[in-house]
Amino acid sequence: MGYFCYPAHCPGPDLKIMTEKKLRTLAEPFRIKMVEPLKITTEEYREEVLKKAGFNPFLLRSEDVFIDLLTDSGTGAMSDRQWGGMMIGDESYAGARSWEHLESVVKELTGMAHVLPTHQGRAAERILYGILGGKDKVFISNTHFDTTRANIEFTGANALDIIPPTSRDPEVDLPFKGNIDTEELERLIVKHGSSQIGAVVMTVTNNSFGGQPVSMQNMKEVRTICDRNKVFLVIDGCRIAENSYFIKHRENGFADKTYEEIAKEMLRLGDAFIMSAKKDGLVNMGGLLTLKDDELSRKCTNLLIISEGFTTYGGLSGRDMEAIAIGLKEVFDPDYLHYRIRSTAYLGEHLRAKGVPVLWPIGGHAVYIDAKRLYPNIPVNEYPGQVLVCDLYVKGGIRCVEVGSVMFGKYDERHQLIPAQNELVRLAIPRRVYTQSHIDYVLDVFDDILELRKQTRGCRITYEPPFLRHFTSQFERL
Ligand code: F0G
Repeated sequence: MGYFCYPAHCPGPDLKIMTEKKLRTLAEPFRIKMVEPLKITTEEYREEVLKKAGFNPFLLRSEDVFIDLLTDSGTGAMSDRQWGGMMIGDESYAGARSWEHLESVVKELTGMAHVLPTHQGRAAERILYGILGGKDKVFISNTHFDTTRANIEFTGANALDIIPPTSRDPEVDLPFKGNIDTEELERLIVKHGSSQIGAVVMTVTNNSFGGQPVSMQNMKEVRTICDRNKVFLVIDGCRIAENSYFIKHRENGFADKTYEEIAKEMLRLGDAFIMSAKKDGLVNMGGLLTLKDDELSRKCTNLLIISEGFTTYGGLSGRDMEAIAIGLKEVFDPDYLHYRIRSTAYLGEHLRAKGVPVLWPIGGHAVYIDAKRLYPNIPVNEYPGQVLVCDLYVKGGIRCVEVGSVMFGKYDERHQLIPAQNELVRLAIPRRVYTQSHIDYVLDVFDDILELRKQTRGCRITYEPPFLRHFTSQFERL
């Protein structure tokens, strides 16, 4: 097996590999300089610790996890150059060299005049939406990420997600399934009145919708609609480099542009850019807010100073800023991006070939499994996604997260579950951390999972907090 490229959505340089008939494994474009040992445990041990954790893998010790696919956020490995940069970080309170380095890289990437450094993405969200939000305001997105929605709703505003009806089918193969529904966007702006729209938020790639990409065409249409109606456009672009890969290989007119040029072109369409640097910044902690408008930037800067830190470090240390500045360059390396997107697709395509129902096509940072279809005998009120998450841990020490009725379910007045739209499980791939043999191991564990397909044992919640219940809920097996 190899991370080879299927011709489907992926012409360009890879085709050479196909036409030369030398289908070679796409080996990781890095070698390992430092290792972190992993503990190998038995199935009996994992069953016991999972039981102690109330069948919620969030409550496991990471030491007891073999392959951690809980998130791609802040879990990547930094390069030798980034670690080198850490050593020359300038920790001055004001006007640090490392700040100048970060600011220049981010200004060049975004073309925006104002750069505010934050400790992570949600801090940038809290600052910006704290100002743009408020009671009766409406925000419209291709799909708000959870923290985006939470920061918007916290101000009293409403957050609406609009995906085109054609994209909602989990099986349909579309190149840009992460796009926003532009007709519905215009309709909603008219319905609510443009003065009530806090912002349009384009999440790139669309994390809560399968990590699916957004096309340049779609972003340009959104820009035109926002201009016509004087509505503010935010690009939540923590996976902007991954999105650029899809544009280069799937959208007409971009084959000859570099990934960085594509990202720059897209970011210039926004009024603001929010980035959790824990993804395509290739670092373990950090965030950014960039803005074009001077007045808005002054307001945001005031909040930054109150809650994060002075303008030239915000929520970051000098060494963090140095690592982000280097990471934001490395992430556009064509060999890295090709390996990154193909290695995620490798997992998804092989799962699909085994008969595991996956959200299709495979997105950039994660593979999403449809647990309702995998375990047809488990009703949604017995949480098939949580059952799969537990089975993956017990069978293989793999940790991942349910994105279904545990995360998004609500209750009606008779305390009956109102299920989520889908019962998905996300396998998110940390950047530059696991090798192909780790991924092949995950694929092997799915052979055991497929043997459990006919099981009827669901699970039941024994404890749940009032908010964000997936983090701390406890379960028992039925
Ligand atoms: N926006 C998007 C699209 C995200 O995916 C995330 C985080 C954030 C904002 C918030 O950034 O964590 O730095 O505060 N996503 C992580 C995930 C947590 O697992 O998908 P943060």
